[in-house]
Amino acid sequence: MKTELNGHSGCGLKLFKQYNTVYVKKSSKEIEYNERLKAQCKKQKEYKADKLKVVSVLREGYANGLFYFDMEYISGITLAEYMRNISLSEIQNLTNLLMEHHSRRNFYDRQAKKIFLKKIKEIEQKIDLTNSSIKEAVKILEEYDWSYVIHSNCHGDFTLENMIMANNSIYLIDFLDSFYDSWQIDFAKMLQDIELYWHYRNEKEIDINLALRLLILKENLIDRVLEMDEGEHLLETIYHILLLNVLRIFPYTKEEKTWIFLIAKLDYVKNIIIKKDWL
Ligand SMILES: Nc1ncnc2c1ncn2[C@@H]1O[C@H](COP(=O)(O)OP(=O)(O)OP(=O)(O)O)[C@@H](O)[C@H]1O
Ligand SMILES: [Mg+2]
Repeated sequence: MKTELNGHSGCGLKLFKQYNTVYVKKSSKEIEYNERLKAQCKKQKEYKADKLKVVSVLREGYANGLFYFDMEYISGITLAEYMRNISLSEIQNLTNLLMEHHSRRNFYDRQAKKIFLKKIKEIEQKIDLTNSSIKEAVKILEEYDWSYVIHSNCHGDFTLENMIMANNSIYLIDFLDSFYDSWQIDFAKMLQDIELYWHYRNEKEIDINLALRLLILKENLIDRVLEMDEGEHLLETIYHILLLNVLRIFPYTKEEKTWIFLIAKLDYVKNIIIKKDWL
């Protein structure tokens, strides 16, 4: 038995049932993508996620020159969907689980500033700097002192779609190499869905119950960062990374609707940064 699963990266994703076991096969669609998927598989095998779980890789190999790996199938729903019906009291448990991921042992990396400024320069080459919103965002990012971005374990694509909820646990999938490894990068990626609604952008109107649940989760998470040492500064960096994330999407944006959405979010995040208005 074979069934297709949905994804966006262009990888093949199929569900297999063999005897009594169900597994997922993720395979590269073109040879050029092999190395990236191989890196993803390696990261998934080696990742240490404390209280969060990582979906086990069962085997890997090549079929017709294309890399693939098989992993256990988690029967659950993505956190993006789970958020629609989560009970309000459960949001606290979810906050605790997610914060486990964001409070690991940390240290600074002397290269951070150089790495971030290089990334910003790279993005500048690909975006329309004649747009005033974009130009202002770039200026904010160039002027920020990136010396203190924490270096730590990092999933690399910590979206609500890449977390599967099952048996009160969060299972991580779809790891990605990041230009810099930091839990602050993962946190910002999470806010992209929770606060900016990136995952839900194509919905005509965001359901009020969902919006409420996302807002409570966001406030819980922000509170927890503010309780940390240097919490304000950690958040300031997180929102700068969020601004960087939004900018990074522009070169891939073809639809005008998405472009308008992104400009609005860019202005929204800029405003938070300028006013230091985290809550
Ligand atoms: N092992 C698994 N168990 C259960 N569901 C899975 C599993 N792997 C993937 N899925 C489902 O398929 C979706 C897409 O998987 P995945 O994130 O690996 O694909 P992708 O094409 O790389 O997506 P992206 O654009 O986020 O990179 C997931 O959001 C999840 O709903
Ligand atoms: Mg994914």
